[in-house]
Amino acid sequence: MLTQSRAPRYSPQDQLVWKVLFDRQTALLHRRAVPAFGAAVARLGLCRGGIPDLAALSAEVFRLSGWQLVPVGQALGPSAFLARLAGRELPVMTRIRSMRDFDFSPEPDLFHDVFGHVPMLLDPQFADFLHTLGLAAQAVAPGDTETRQQLWALYFFTAEFGLVLHEGQPRLYGAGLLASAGELHHCVNEATPRPTFNLDTVRRTPVLGTRFQDQYFVLPAWEELSDCAAELAGVLAPHRVAA
Ligand SMILES: [Fe+2]
Repeated sequence: MLTQSRAPRYSPQDQLVWKVLFDRQTALLHRRAVPAFGAAVARLGLCRGGIPDLAALSAEVFRLSGWQLVPVGQALGPSAFLARLAGRELPVMTRIRSMRDFDFSPEPDLFHDVFGHVPMLLDPQFADFLHTLGLAAQAVAPGDTETRQQLWALYFFTAEFGLVLHEGQPRLYGAGLLASAGELHHCVNEATPRPTFNLDTVRRTPVLGTRFQDQYFVLPAWEELSDCAAELAGVLAPHRVAA
């Protein structure tokens, strides 16, 4: 949660970056994003007019979904990030990218987190999947780096770079696609592989953090995320599932 004293101040240049990114991504995502995304953007009142007040946005997200936004000054590592998901908290970078990184921000930034991630929290199935993923990560033994990497890959190829079939067409729902024109164009390029989502394959696919992905996985149906979360929940002890 944000307090007034911690609320970041944004320069006119920052506000311009938000406005131009918002306009461009909104145009690019027409009929490319899952319908739930656009509906949530409207419901949350996200608009081109300016960077939203994070404290107010967090309160609204909490009212609508039970999730809260946690401001962070630098990106969290996978373990710390997933631990936040277990508490139904989404870390949000307070820094916004510069014009230089307009098409592709190698580090998460405020636009990536607020525009790309926050709206999807309003989809209950997706939010429950993230929560279960966080709980699963907490249940992994500290020395079990292989399982941790697999959980991170699952997060990465869904919440960051996932697509799902909607009326027979792949639609974007991953934040790294929703908030990056460069990665979006690479993803929808005919030459880019877009295999059908398969949990065992995804868990073992290398994560490429600083360049475009080699492939993007397409869920056959949105409900597959629930199945996926249920499968993950199977690795959890009963008292952790109920937490
Ligand atoms: Fe992200």
